[in-house]
Formats: sequence, C-alpha cells, structure tokens
Amino acid sequence: MKPGDIDAWRSAIRPQTRLLFGETLGNPGLDVLDIPTVSSIGHEHGLPLLVDSTFTTPYLMKPFEHGADLVYHSATKFLSGHGTVVGGVLVDGGRFDWDASGRFPELTEPYEGFHGMVFSEESTVGAFLLRARREGLRDFGACMSPHTAWLVLQGIETLPLRMERHVANTRRIVQFLSSHPLVAGVGYPELESHPDHRLAATLLPRGCGAVFSFDLKGSRAQGKIFIESLKIFSHLANVGDCRSLVIHPASTTHFRMDDAALAQAGIGPGTIRLSIGLEDASDLIDDLKRALKAAERG
Ligand SMILES: Cc1ncc(COP(=O)(O)O)c(C=O)c1O
Repeated sequence: MKPGDIDAWRSAIRPQTRLLFGETLGNPGLDVLDIPTVSSIGHEHGLPLLVDSTFTTPYLMKPFEHGADLVYHSATKFLSGHGTVVGGVLVDGGRFDWDASGRFPELTEPYEGFHGMVFSEESTVGAFLLRARREGLRDFGACMSPHTAWLVLQGIETLPLRMERHVANTRRIVQFLSSHPLVAGVGYPELESHPDHRLAATLLPRGCGAVFSFDLKGSRAQGKIFIESLKIFSHLANVGDCRSLVIHPASTTHFRMDDAALAQAGIGPGTIRLSIGLEDASDLIDDLKRALKAAERG
C-alpha cells in the first residue's frame, strides 16, 4: 500500500485491526507518510499509529507532533551513526487512550502472565511501552549491552550536526544525479518530480534524509559494473552510516526476482540505493561520475 493512498488506509481497516503502521519515508521510493491524515483515520477507529522513524530521525521529524502514537527507530542507523552497533528504540507518546479504544484487553484488563496486573492502571501514560518492555525483557531476554547503549548515546550527542551534513551532501548528490544523462530518475521528495513533494515540504522542512534511490538507464549488468567501480561508497546493505553506502537490489538482495517481480516491488533492473555519508560531497560526486562512466562503457 502506498503511504499516501488515504482511501487504501481507510479500506484496510478491519474489525480485527489493532494498529496502523508506516515508515516516515518508505523504502525504496521515499513515499512520505501523511502522518496527520493517517493518524486521524486511525483515531476515528480507536487505533494507534506506529511509525518507523529510522530514515528521518528526531532531527528531521518529530512524529508525535503530527499525530503518531508510537515511534520506533533502528538505532543501528543514524542514531548511533557509525555502523558499529545493532539496536533499536521504542517510544510511546503517552497520549493514546487504550481504555477508551476498547480494542486492547491485553493492556486494559488483568493479565494473568503478570499476576493480574492491568497495564493501563499501572501506567496511565505508557501502558504499551510498559508491557513491551517488561514482557520483552522477562520472556525474551531482550537487553541491550552497556557498550552498545553507550555507543548509541554518544552517537545521539552529535545527531543534529551529522544530520545537517547528511542532508547537505545528499542535496548536492541528488542535484548531480538528476542532471546526469545516464540517470533515468531520482526519487527524492525535495524534487518537484516526486509525488510527495508538497507533503515533504510541510512535514520535512529540514530535509528528506540521506537514503534514496535512483534509476540507472541500462541493464542489471551495467548496474553491477557501476557498483564495482565505486571507490568511496561501500557496497553494503546498511544505511545511516557516517560512510557512504550503495546497493544494487537487482543483483544482490533481490537477485532471485525476475524483472516483472522487481517492478511490482517498485525496483527496476537499474535501481541503485544510496545512503549518503559525511565525506566531502565533491569526492562523492567524483566517485559517482567515474562509476557512471564505467557503467556507460559496460
Ligand atoms: C527503516 C528501517 N527500519 C528498521 C530496520 C531494522 O533495523 P535493525 O537492523 O536495527 O534491526 C531497518 C534495517 O535496515 C530499516 O532500514
């Protein structure tokens, strides 16, 4: 479902629906989630909106201010910022009324697994978070190592500075790629050609992050040559690292899919995903120029 397709959100709600979920910026097309509209549809039905805010981070967007109820981040990405940890953060906005919704007996009625505890009585502002943390910790042992937690906390201290640079570098690279003859299209919502351009201007005035895809004119083989010719970008499936990363889904993560199946997933044979790091933007552009030339020859 396209995040911007409001009718699809409305008609997706069934009697058994418990939660609406979306990414602030969807992967790979960077569809912008219309949080104010989707959250109000959810609230009409007594449903909370959970948002994956990994690509935008709290620096580019604060989803609670737009109506989201729960937020999570992969701290593996921009929050820690150096590709050195695996971790996540779950945040409960504390405003969703689990009792009034009537759809969450596991939070509003005595729970046998915790000796009759009622989570919404125990914590009137964070019932969901309380259960997610207590049960996750007790039953699954999900506990971050102190070293990982320290690296994430240290990363967060420089988040604003890094995000400014991530976005500034990305803008320069988007501009370069948009006017390159071997590039069929660039999917970045700050471009007027992007379907969610206007929504992005409202929700993401500080920028649309540093992960985006573009389409190379050419075959899967040329996509592969492009990747192999890059010297500064690392060929990696991660995103949100201080170093620039690149991946060609058609020859890696999605190589088993034929072109028709790829197209259904919004991926072309020449789709390349970049995660722009903190290096000098001119060096990154030189690297891309060289690899585009090699792909053209290939
Ligand atoms: C948007 C987004 N959310 C969540 C995840 C999962 O993160 P982790 O690797 O920390 O489990 C990823 C990983 O690629 C991601 O890109």
